[in-house]
Amino acid sequence: MAAPKRRRSQDWFGREGKMGFIYRSWMKNRGIPQDQFDGRPVIGICNTYSELVPCNSHFRTLAEHVKMGVLEAGGFPLEFPVMSLGETLLRPTAMLYRNLASMDVEESIRGNPLDGVVLLMGCDKTTPSLMMGAASCDIPTIGVSGGPMLSGIYRGQHIGSGTNTWSLSEQLRAGEITQDEFHEAESCMHRSHGHCMTMGTASTMASMVEALGVGLPGNAAYPAVDARRNVIARRAGRRIVEMVEEDLVLSKLLTRQAFENAIRTNGAIGGSTNAVIHLIAIARRIGIDLSLDDWDRLGRGVHTLVNLMPNGEYLMEDFCYAGGLPVVLRELGENGFLHKDALTANGRTLWDNVKDARNDGPQVIMSHAQPFKRETGTVVLRGNLCPDGAIIKPSAATPALMQHKGRAVVFEDVDDFHARIDDDALDIDENCVMVLRNSGPKGYPGMAEVGNMPLPPKILKRGITDMVRISDARMSGTAYGTVVLHIAPESAAGGPLGLVENGDLVELDVAGRRLLLHVSDEVLAKRRAANKPPRIHMERGYWKLYVEHVNQANEGCDLDFLVGRSGAGVPRDNH
Ligand code: FES
Repeated sequence: MAAPKRRRSQDWFGREGKMGFIYRSWMKNRGIPQDQFDGRPVIGICNTYSELVPCNSHFRTLAEHVKMGVLEAGGFPLEFPVMSLGETLLRPTAMLYRNLASMDVEESIRGNPLDGVVLLMGCDKTTPSLMMGAASCDIPTIGVSGGPMLSGIYRGQHIGSGTNTWSLSEQLRAGEITQDEFHEAESCMHRSHGHCMTMGTASTMASMVEALGVGLPGNAAYPAVDARRNVIARRAGRRIVEMVEEDLVLSKLLTRQAFENAIRTNGAIGGSTNAVIHLIAIARRIGIDLSLDDWDRLGRGVHTLVNLMPNGEYLMEDFCYAGGLPVVLRELGENGFLHKDALTANGRTLWDNVKDARNDGPQVIMSHAQPFKRETGTVVLRGNLCPDGAIIKPSAATPALMQHKGRAVVFEDVDDFHARIDDDALDIDENCVMVLRNSGPKGYPGMAEVGNMPLPPKILKRGITDMVRISDARMSGTAYGTVVLHIAPESAAGGPLGLVENGDLVELDVAGRRLLLHVSDEVLAKRRAANKPPRIHMERGYWKLYVEHVNQANEGCDLDFLVGRSGAGVPRDNH
């Protein structure tokens, strides 16, 4: 029989002499008895609690439940904070800091006596940053999502995070509602702990964690304030101790099959476009070369099954009552869209976890045979405007605009956009294509969620609610519209988006998977010779590191030197 693997925590706590004293004695200052250091699994609870991140404001409670679970299973829990990223307060965009937070996670895990880790994740970027950091370390890992808020309800109507923020602000700009009504809606939208309760990026990423097998069944949908959310946390605490004993490291879960399951799941839930970037980044950390072509290939034939905002009418609370993600996964599995034997954190296969799932809300989760929307997997566009790709989310777009040719109206950056969009003299009509540049990873910097540009008021007032918009930016997972995103390379990196001029003809052909600028190669070559992308110069600090090293959207926007896995070798002693 092979000798049991020595736990990495024993390189700290299992020592004698001066170093053993140092590693244990200071830990005893809060009453930890000697027997806690006897070689039992040491479990890190990686907490993104922060009052600056409202979506994660209940995480202290969640951590306590994980701790109870770890203790019940005979482990030694140690909670630690990492940089937390909130979508609503952090400027210029939380995405700028995703990679920084991932470094915090990676180094916190590797530099400490941890044998396994439970990741507490909620607001959009907290999920990919923790998953990326953990993937680079590759120790046993369970993800616990914080859960969505209860449904927003305003004057008897459901209102969803983000989705109705955009629609209410358009109504305010069009003069359809008053400022007082706007403020009232503000108080009704977010009325409990939890993250956005639409199928925005947070709910999407929580679903990805479950589909990847890193979260326990039910991870995506239980509301933050539902007692079952705490049960998941407690179960995760128990299970991670067993995972350490089984040496069930993250790379045994995060296989190519798992990512393929997640991509198809994203299509079926009508998930956020941000998942494209995040899954590519997570996959590349663990050593899987996921690409945009995988997204396009695997999305074919996948229908949107879930009738949730921003694509539909219901909210995450309804999704929970309908049965949540296991119902979607079962439907995918029964129609040949799932690698059923992918292993999950609870030690069972994905199919074992979901094959008996019950659909108690067929109006919320529909079947593959009669889906909510057909053929809506993420579409990857190519063409002379986006040599390295761009994406569109068909489930959130207007069908009539998915084949469209229009005159370009170009905005140099978001400041130019804000300065001119409300001007009635702006030469634009509903057939035009709105073009926004200098909003990508380097250009913004951080690739903000500004791709779903609000329409000009003079067009909104005529009752028109959608136009084709293209950019190198991202958009919020809660947003909607015929919006082409993630154009790569971005304009600030010399991409052809920087060569578009007002009046050029732009063609979007979703069925043909093309995005074209109808300008001859000769003219484009001349423009390119004369074009000087704005020089992005940062003096110091993380912004400088980011701008100099960030990869483009098609590569996951990771920092080039963070791609890959370094494992969790124990560093040298500190004294
Ligand atoms: Fe945190 Fe939407 S703002 S999840």
